[in-house]
Amino acid sequence: MKILVIQGPNLNILGHREPHIYGNFTLEQIHTNLQNQAKQNNASLEFFQSNFEGEIIDKLQECIGGEYVGVIINPAAFSHTSIAIADAIASCGVPVIEVHISNIHAREEFRSKSYTGAVSAGVITGFGAFGYHLALMGILQIANEVQAYKAQQAAQAQQK
Ligand code: DQA
Repeated sequence: MKILVIQGPNLNILGHREPHIYGNFTLEQIHTNLQNQAKQNNASLEFFQSNFEGEIIDKLQECIGGEYVGVIINPAAFSHTSIAIADAIASCGVPVIEVHISNIHAREEFRSKSYTGAVSAGVITGFGAFGYHLALMGILQIANEVQAYKAQQAAQAQQK
């Protein structure tokens, strides 16, 4: 099972960036730990980080008819501004879980609105880097349920 992990703007400087809000882990450390969790669950992760809105949209469009069973995304500041990324999530055809390292509801008011979260299957916010691990558990659960449903449908179709 292949899962896509998309990281938005300024997340490439985690560890250096406002550590009192985002913690001390670098993005590379977060990805290494997450890949280990994926391996233990017979899944593999592909990582993509961009500071550019259009590149994130292009990456989401790769999910259409592609091999990914789901997406974990932290759109960072684009969560609060980008209808275009929200539209790409809504049409990518696979379940998407949004992650925020900080609790976006406990900060400035402009952060509490997430256009992208509104079209995602679920949102995890405020658990620090551990939020990515919770998201992986969530996406694996959804992917397994979808797989089981498809197998059941196929078995029923064969019986007819
Ligand atoms: C963030 C929260 C956003 O408001 C902010 O712009 C980010 C990071 C988080 O992970 O907590 O860049 O998405």
